[in-house]
Amino acid sequence: MATYKLLLLPGDGIGPEVMAGVETVLGALAETGLARFETETDRVGGAAIDAHGTPLSDATLARAEAADAILLGAVGGPKWNGVAYDIRPEAGLLRLRKELGLFANLRPAICHPALADASALKRELVEGLDIIIVRELTGGVYFGAPKEITTLPDGAKRAVDTQVYTTGEIERIAHVAFDLARKRSGRVASAEKHNVMKSGVLWKEVVTRVHAQHYADVELEHVLADNCAMQLVRRPKQFDVLVTDNLFGDILSDVAAMLTGSLGMLPSASLGALDGRGTRKALYEPVHGSAPDIAGRDAANPIAMIGSLAMCLRYSFGLGEAADLVESAVTATLAGGARTADIASPGTEAVGTGAMAGLIAADLRARAA
Ligand code: IPM
Ligand code: MG
Repeated sequence: MATYKLLLLPGDGIGPEVMAGVETVLGALAETGLARFETETDRVGGAAIDAHGTPLSDATLARAEAADAILLGAVGGPKWNGVAYDIRPEAGLLRLRKELGLFANLRPAICHPALADASALKRELVEGLDIIIVRELTGGVYFGAPKEITTLPDGAKRAVDTQVYTTGEIERIAHVAFDLARKRSGRVASAEKHNVMKSGVLWKEVVTRVHAQHYADVELEHVLADNCAMQLVRRPKQFDVLVTDNLFGDILSDVAAMLTGSLGMLPSASLGALDGRGTRKALYEPVHGSAPDIAGRDAANPIAMIGSLAMCLRYSFGLGEAADLVESAVTATLAGGARTADIASPGTEAVGTGAMAGLIAADLRARAA
């Protein structure tokens, strides 16, 4: 069995607690003999600011470059509200995404049958939901220049963010979405705002062309991003693969998360381009943030983080069997009635982060035995 090098970046808030859950599951996986990992742990975000005065040190970036894959918890929190914009905790995560070229962010939203009643939406709208948001992750308004606040002659201030997309950036994310659709139900919806934004006009044009040239077998639908948000809460199961830009993807994936019952359920994979050796840089992280309000209280849901590990097994290492095992263990543990506070229904008793991870690991061991 090959040993892979995993870099763990727990980060801030609930990050370290959910990452501990991953370590519990990694321990169980090693026992099954299906996958063994060498792990290294380092700092990112506020934790790195406290230690090094920067949210991502060059040394940590070098380790990230050298790792076979990266698992990241969460960054940010009120403790760092006062730090300069350029070195705020989130800047560490954005630098990682940019420097490693992680342009394709896959955010699957699956509603576990056991959780259909935990969603804010009616059961019949979300039961069986299985969609995936393909979010462009290294372009758009997150990285466009200029990005600044200047002072006008009259003393008032002027803030600018710039939304930029080039043909190539749109093409490569479109390919990811269409390729993924071929392995699923063969349908892609592309969300932009071509009615207001030039970047939306180009987005629609390029996605349409990539589709016509290479993916005539896939069904493509264009949807305005605001309408898409509405459709996601109105009739979410109409979608399968949803491709969109960095900012719309950020917003729409939070909406999608709530369909599944809780933000604590959504994993994600951020992937780079294939290199000459057939491998790609990859970072896996839950869609949720650092949740400072519940940090350190053993109250967080570790499932999004553990689901991110499953995506890592599948996408970075081709360990589909191990990934299935982790995902089945999560499903079975939920079906068995275990709930963290965020998904607990009235009358059920919530378990802590550590206990939830322990139950998942125990199910995994039993399943593999
Ligand atoms: C996400 C987060 C990040 C983003 C933050 C933490 C910078 O909200 O991954 O969705 O906006 O991309
Ligand atoms: Mg977000």
